[in-house]
Amino acid sequence: MRKLIVTLWVCVLTSPLLLAGEGMWIPMLLKQLNEKEMHEMGMRINAEDIYSINKSSLKDAIVLFGRGCTGEIVSDQGLLLTNHHCGFGEIQKHSSVENDYLTNGFWAMNKSEELPNPGLTVTMLVKMEDVTDRVLEKVTSELTELQRSSIIKENIKTLTEAAVKESGLVVTIRPFYNGNQYFMLFNQIFKDIRLVGAPPSNIGKFGGDTDNWMWPRHTGDFSVFRIYVGKDGKPAEYHQDNVPYKPAYHLPISLKGVDEEDFTFVFGYPARTSEYLPAVAVRNITEISNPHRVNMRGTRLDIFKKYSNSEPKIRIQYASKDARVANAWKKMMGESKGIRRLNGIEKKEALENEFMQWAKNDPAFDKAYSGIIPAFHQNYSQLDRLTLASDYISEGGFGIELFQFASRFRPLVEEATKPLPDEKKLNTIIERLQKQSEEFFKDYHQPIDREVASALLKLFLENQPAGFRPDFLETINKKYKGNTDAYVKMIFDKSMFTSAQSVKELLSAFKSKNTRIIEKDAAFSVAASMSRFFEEQLKEPLLALNASNDSLQRVYMRGLMEMQNNKRFYPDANFTLRITYGKVEGYSPADAIYYKHYTTLEGILEKEDPNIYDYVVEDRLKELYNKKDYAPYGTADGQLRVAFAASNHTTGGNSGSPVLNADGQMVGLNFDRCWEGTMSDLMYDPAMSRNIAVDIRYVLFIMDKFAGAKHLVDEMTIIQ
Ligand code: ARG
Ligand code: ASP
Repeated sequence: MRKLIVTLWVCVLTSPLLLAGEGMWIPMLLKQLNEKEMHEMGMRINAEDIYSINKSSLKDAIVLFGRGCTGEIVSDQGLLLTNHHCGFGEIQKHSSVENDYLTNGFWAMNKSEELPNPGLTVTMLVKMEDVTDRVLEKVTSELTELQRSSIIKENIKTLTEAAVKESGLVVTIRPFYNGNQYFMLFNQIFKDIRLVGAPPSNIGKFGGDTDNWMWPRHTGDFSVFRIYVGKDGKPAEYHQDNVPYKPAYHLPISLKGVDEEDFTFVFGYPARTSEYLPAVAVRNITEISNPHRVNMRGTRLDIFKKYSNSEPKIRIQYASKDARVANAWKKMMGESKGIRRLNGIEKKEALENEFMQWAKNDPAFDKAYSGIIPAFHQNYSQLDRLTLASDYISEGGFGIELFQFASRFRPLVEEATKPLPDEKKLNTIIERLQKQSEEFFKDYHQPIDREVASALLKLFLENQPAGFRPDFLETINKKYKGNTDAYVKMIFDKSMFTSAQSVKELLSAFKSKNTRIIEKDAAFSVAASMSRFFEEQLKEPLLALNASNDSLQRVYMRGLMEMQNNKRFYPDANFTLRITYGKVEGYSPADAIYYKHYTTLEGILEKEDPNIYDYVVEDRLKELYNKKDYAPYGTADGQLRVAFAASNHTTGGNSGSPVLNADGQMVGLNFDRCWEGTMSDLMYDPAMSRNIAVDIRYVLFIMDKFAGAKHLVDEMTIIQ
């Protein structure tokens, strides 16, 4: 396969260039695959300036922030930018009623005020290497899939251990192109990361979930951290004597802004895409799983909303749950709609027909590839049903907070019912449960959960055919004649898990014989019945079919690359550092509508509504607006730009990534995509897929003029 990919690159260099926008490219291969096109699109720096192992380059300023976002270093003292929604957990942890940083924002006015965040890490790529040949050593086409993967696993282990020893770095090997190519990644992990600043939520989260996934957007979605290291300059655990990290490179920041059609690129950590799935898989996601999950989540959200609107306390209790449920809910809706609009399934089918025809014309290809598409069909004839059943367990059954909470007591029951329970383990479990219970009840409003439970169980009953139902659903049907209200009343009235007091008492004087009380508990039994059902009926077939799909996908991917051997392929996102490039551009979401590529402070005032939580505007921001006190961050025409849209192919994990201009200077901070383009995880559409970034000038304006933290701006390298 290595040979194949290398030959493909040669073809690519001589083949006509593709439409820009689509693709998440590997930094190490940028020179070979993309540099020429990037130059043609307007880039003025070179691939070597972006990724180099010989000199400092942009990559030295890009980090994986925590486990799910990107961040970038913007000063020679380790100052780091990411999104507000990426730093949200940390900001929340430091917040209290007296110091409500979520609501009011937080600004360290000097380094001694910066707040440590135990557990938070940032990961920086030092270098990467293609290790395909070594990972695939002794892998032959005669092997079974099981033998193949055990050899690969063994090879990876040996290679990684040797590399760790030699480099002293954190090393991982990751599959690319669905396991057709392997790269070794050498990382440094920093562990002392301190919170430096965050705007108030009504700036950092302006528009909330109402505007989430949407353009035009006015969210100042940023927060500021700093990386600290030991006195020797190396990553170290938190210590008050640690010093700010001196990076090999930090991003310069441009105040010039962007115009429509300007070249931009995004450098960051996209998490997961599935661009090469067969039609049956896309159908499974967009026509089966998404609609049911959207329905279940929508049901919960409606109920949350009803209660939240009536009581501020409930709104706070449910704010973070609501955001979590709403984010994927909206994304899935957009994704299914987008695939339909693109005729995505039909396009995939056409490609598969072409693939089958192509394979038939050559005996070797025929042997390798003709069985692939039918095998996918075979798998999905079972998977459609199984994924749905598992969706109903996870989103339906465990969408009910009480059941989720009760199921956390399973490890306790398991340990306590062992012939010789391990006392130490038991205590750890109990302590954990005490903490979890406290957190659970702090944000629990039982009337919401009762309503949710009844509605979700109704959906569960309606949509899961017999044979795919955990036992308790049959009880609802038979004993309660399908009346989920009555059933829910019975469960909630009887269960001890609805009462903070009972749970507290149980845990504070826990004796092994108490497991009987838990096991017999109404809510616990339902939770256990669902888990048992999943483990006994779904888990194994799902694992087996998914493993089979993975193998098929690897061969299909290789086949597609052989068939379209003058096309340039990018590997699916896999949480490794990538570059995507495109242009600043607006789009037309529907007939007769055109969305411009940028928004301004004007728009924040237009959206203002003091009665709607998502649209409250700070007085201080209004003052600045009235005075038009923008310099040096405003535009020549007296405006302050807030956000812009561009055709960079991004996905989850790209949040917090820098958007860079043709000179490699930071112009924006990526945080979202537009709703009409969210199917880009399955199929990118140059007409609709847009990433959304907060204009870096708005970020600096908020720090400097709004928060009075100009010392942070002064630390940065600003290009006027
Ligand atoms: N849609 C963005 C992403 O997927 C932002 C999510 C956070 N914001 C929110 N309103 N829930 O991460
Ligand atoms: N909002 C996403 C994130 O947090 C980015 C996206 O999906 O476009 O990574």
